[in-house]
Amino acid sequence: MESAGGPATAERSVEVRNWGNFIGGKWVPAASGRTLENRNPADQDDLIGVFADSGAQDVEQAVAAARAAFPAWRALPAPKRGEILYRCAEILVRRKEEFARDATREMGKVLAETRGDVQEAIDMTYYMAGEGRRQFGQTTPSELANKFQMSVRMPVGVAGLITPWNFPMAIPSWKMMPALVLGNTVVIKSAPDTPLSTVNLIEALTEAGLPAGVVNMVSGGGQPGAALAAHPDVGVVSFTGSTGTGRKVSEACASRFKHCHLEMGGKNVIMVMDDANLELAVDGALWGGFGTTGQRCTAASRVVLHKDVYSRFAERFVERARALRVGNGLDERIEMGPLINQAQRDKVEMYAGVGREEGARLLCGGHRLAGGDHARGFFFEATVFGDCAPAMRVAREEIFGPVVSLIPVGSLEEAIEVGNSVDYGLSASIYTQDINKAFTAMRDMYTGIFYVNAPTIGAETHLPFGGTKNTGNGHREACVQALDVFSEWKSIYIDYSGHLQRAQIDTPE
Ligand code: UN1
Repeated sequence: MESAGGPATAERSVEVRNWGNFIGGKWVPAASGRTLENRNPADQDDLIGVFADSGAQDVEQAVAAARAAFPAWRALPAPKRGEILYRCAEILVRRKEEFARDATREMGKVLAETRGDVQEAIDMTYYMAGEGRRQFGQTTPSELANKFQMSVRMPVGVAGLITPWNFPMAIPSWKMMPALVLGNTVVIKSAPDTPLSTVNLIEALTEAGLPAGVVNMVSGGGQPGAALAAHPDVGVVSFTGSTGTGRKVSEACASRFKHCHLEMGGKNVIMVMDDANLELAVDGALWGGFGTTGQRCTAASRVVLHKDVYSRFAERFVERARALRVGNGLDERIEMGPLINQAQRDKVEMYAGVGREEGARLLCGGHRLAGGDHARGFFFEATVFGDCAPAMRVAREEIFGPVVSLIPVGSLEEAIEVGNSVDYGLSASIYTQDINKAFTAMRDMYTGIFYVNAPTIGAETHLPFGGTKNTGNGHREACVQALDVFSEWKSIYIDYSGHLQRAQIDTPE
């Protein structure tokens, strides 16, 4: 493996690496020579590294490398591909703490959570390593004598992966591992705020023995992502990010009929019934709403409360939200890290204003944190709006920050109606002791994920992950469903009768 260079400039600390793109097994600078700085969102003075600011030309080279590597990778038996993934998982286990610290430094969420992020990548990598020996197809009897039939998966070719910053190691692994075990080669576009975690994942794969060109990385902003989605040699695109960008990716794929998997926004709901264990519900809403500083697609940004428990819940929830320790996630005492960047903090601040203007009651938070330890980062208070009406923007638009809207309702039926009333459908949850209510909500919530007596976050890698409506386009990540995104089915018929047999015509009556 080659490095694109040492420290970027003389003024910078000697620790600062200058990373290029990873193309055909080599680290190379962007064709334009442009670079992007990666700084810690908790401390803007902390320069983590300098990365390539790629354009269409870099994507061109990366796709060419992936295309060239495809025939040999595809020809490698799937169990052997799985073994490379298995070795990669072992390396991730060994380097978990180091990679978690890198992720906290570049992304901001607290260490316990970045350890979870790396763990999710480990889980997915082991799971998909096992798929090297499964990838089951079907065999089924023929309607004709002396004829055999089966279906097998085949790789699509070059997979273009466009990944977000909120799960900088887990989400790239969710896409890469199924793509690879099926025999696809990959070009991954890392998120501009978190390229180091993608580099770490690629280093683990390389150390595990992945051949050159099988995974290629281009870092940068929107330009390389758009070029990747539009590239004629990219057969499948998997994107996680905002609904607006997802729509553009989908349009770029549509005219070439590419496989296109989209995982987009959410406005997930926790429904708290009048019989709920309230302390448990408060714990869940706190973790679901403010974990990852609310920057999860699965974040519980709405809490729909039965009016009989509204006040008691609100009081306790606000008390706990106020007490959250906000700061640099590398400090183990901290409970909530910063927002990812200036633009995201501006957006959250804008919504704090929108909520007030539309008549929601600000129960706590609502402001950026700027003094003392917070001076050099993008910190924001844990914010709770009370008495929200379902039609308010803060109750139906994705904010992607530490803002939770409390919505009072009179019944389970109303909770379900409000819960389903948004444009998104990723995750929902109910807190109740009544099994009938739990099953009714489980049946009627039109979301891809549902929880009982647990918050809206916490999906595991061996069940399908994704959502309905504006959250997704009908595909799922994780579990065996992820294999469908990155493969085509081939149905195979073998006639060993020695004479012409016509299906639907020569079948015995
Ligand atoms: C995301 O926010 O995009 O269920 C992914 C969860 C995590 C994954 C979140 N396992 O919250």
